[in-house]
Amino acid sequence: MSRELVYYIAVSLDGFIADPDGGYDAFLSDGDHTSVIFGEYADALPAHAHAALGISPPRTRFDTVVMGWNTLVPALDAGIASPYPHLRQIVASRREREVDPAVTLTADPAAVVNELKAQDGLDIWLCGGGALAGALLPQVDRLVLKRHPVVFGSGVPLFGDAPFAARPFAPVRSRAFDSGVVIEEFAAEK
Ligand SMILES: NC(=O)c1ccc[n+]([C@@H]2O[C@H](COP(=O)([O-])OP(=O)(O)OC[C@H]3O[C@@H](n4cnc5c(N)ncnc54)[C@H](OP(=O)(O)O)[C@@H]3O)[C@@H](O)[C@H]2O)c1
Repeated sequence: MSRELVYYIAVSLDGFIADPDGGYDAFLSDGDHTSVIFGEYADALPAHAHAALGISPPRTRFDTVVMGWNTLVPALDAGIASPYPHLRQIVASRREREVDPAVTLTADPAAVVNELKAQDGLDIWLCGGGALAGALLPQVDRLVLKRHPVVFGSGVPLFGDAPFAARPFAPVRSRAFDSGVVIEEFAAEK
């Protein structure tokens, strides 16, 4: 099977990935759904989480992460310049930015994703945020939504301000947890 771009992300019931200030404290950090986050999707945890949990990245689900500049900023603010050293890290920005040598900055993330998809490897994790996901929406092969039982009312939308363009996704799997989180997986219709 060819390499996929997978948008794996926490989202509110009303489709927001962060509150209007960019925070996500309203998402549940504890509960039985974390068995998936810390297990099957442990490649999508930052290195400081692996250290805190005493685990190693499995390197079985993703080998690359793609994120927008605003998504990297909280890590930079915390003094972490390379949050996912076990992955190839691609960060989108249209500006000249200083980044860690382990991070590749690109002004053309769509082209980079096309190049990566043409290469062999594990799937590519589209980390977010909404603006980048909106730009890469035509290239998204799979959605894995961690849908938390909370309504935000407003915030950062799942696909930013992407223009209307209905695109069907077929349901693949849905797992409901006692915590109230539902992990839903959809594959893009080809
Ligand atoms: N719920 C979750 O699991 C989750 C996961 C990730 C992020 N988030 C949240 O998402 C929020 C950030 O989302 P966001 O929509 O504000 O920003 P974002 O997509 O993370 O970053 C936007 C920036 O990325 C660059 N960019 C985006 N599209 C581009 C393109 N097509 N070409 C070149 N550069 C591009 C631009 O950077 P420049 O301005 O430098 O040009 C743009 O300003 C944060 O609050 C974060 O907490 C939530």
